[in-house]
Amino acid sequence: MAVLVSVGSGKGGTGKSMLATNLAVLFAKEGWNTCLVDLDVGGADAHVMFGVFKPDKTLSHFLGGEARSLYKVMQRLDAFHGLYLIPGTGETLKTANMPYQTKMKLLRHLRSLEAQIVFLDVGAGASLHVLDFFMASSIQIGVATPDPTSILDFYRFLKLAAIRKVLSAFLSHEEVSRMLAREDFQEMEAIFGMAERLKPGSGEVARRALDGFRPTLVFNKVQQGGFSGRRKLQHIVKRFLGVELPELGEIPWDPLVEESIGSYIPVVEYAPGSGASKALEKIARRLRTEIAALQG
Ligand SMILES: Nc1ncnc2c1ncn2[C@@H]1O[C@H](COP(=O)(O)OP(=O)(O)O)[C@@H](O)[C@H]1O
Ligand SMILES: [Mg+2]
Repeated sequence: MAVLVSVGSGKGGTGKSMLATNLAVLFAKEGWNTCLVDLDVGGADAHVMFGVFKPDKTLSHFLGGEARSLYKVMQRLDAFHGLYLIPGTGETLKTANMPYQTKMKLLRHLRSLEAQIVFLDVGAGASLHVLDFFMASSIQIGVATPDPTSILDFYRFLKLAAIRKVLSAFLSHEEVSRMLAREDFQEMEAIFGMAERLKPGSGEVARRALDGFRPTLVFNKVQQGGFSGRRKLQHIVKRFLGVELPELGEIPWDPLVEESIGSYIPVVEYAPGSGASKALEKIARRLRTEIAALQG
């Protein structure tokens, strides 16, 4: 089974696609059988980052049932170490309102892909699709930039993702689920407490739902001497969500990133010696260690 690694942030423009595409290239370069999936429904653009402008087939063909398997919509990028790409879909009413069963089917197919690692670029926003895709993986990478609005957005995103995960531990028709979905919680402990009061034993079920919640942070577009709220962010995540938020790494603001995107070549290939590329390589190495630890 493939290891799923999701990249999310809540906010657009933080660098999710930049991170996901570059990590995918670095893993493929190391010889890993790697697949990158653009799950940014509505803002799909990962293919453009590789100079693929009009993919023959996209996720839409799979979601719409025209393609029965993900292999039919996957394309091998020979110029990028044989990385496999599943291009995203433009937003249509069908994809925006993707039924729960379709989403589950997609996740099932992603998990059974014959790849060692599958990167999910989950896209912006905090819609249920985004939250579910983010939480479906075994490693969740959150991307934030140092500005205070991005940090606040990122915290909200993590909180909603955690709540969504807890709620999905209960059947949607259950009283516990309905009651919890109605409330706005400030911290996870309050959810566990309320679940327990609604139905003895549910507190533990809720708590267990978060066992696989291991978000890590990548700080992007970091400028020397600039504002950095990362300690504060880690502190509030620990205090309110009850989980650590270890840092996978930071990437400096680097003009070569923009230049590389304009040249349709991920920066790790476009400018391997650049500050951003070195930082990305370090992040890839740490991620390999994380995966090794996960696989015991
Ligand atoms: N480290 C960086 N340094 C400079 N520009 C960056 C960096 N990371 C991302 N960018 C720029 O930010 C923009 C948004 O990046 P993108 O990966 O598309 O964000 P997202 O997928 O989160 O919406 C891109 O135009 C990219 O050039
Ligand atoms: Mg993007």
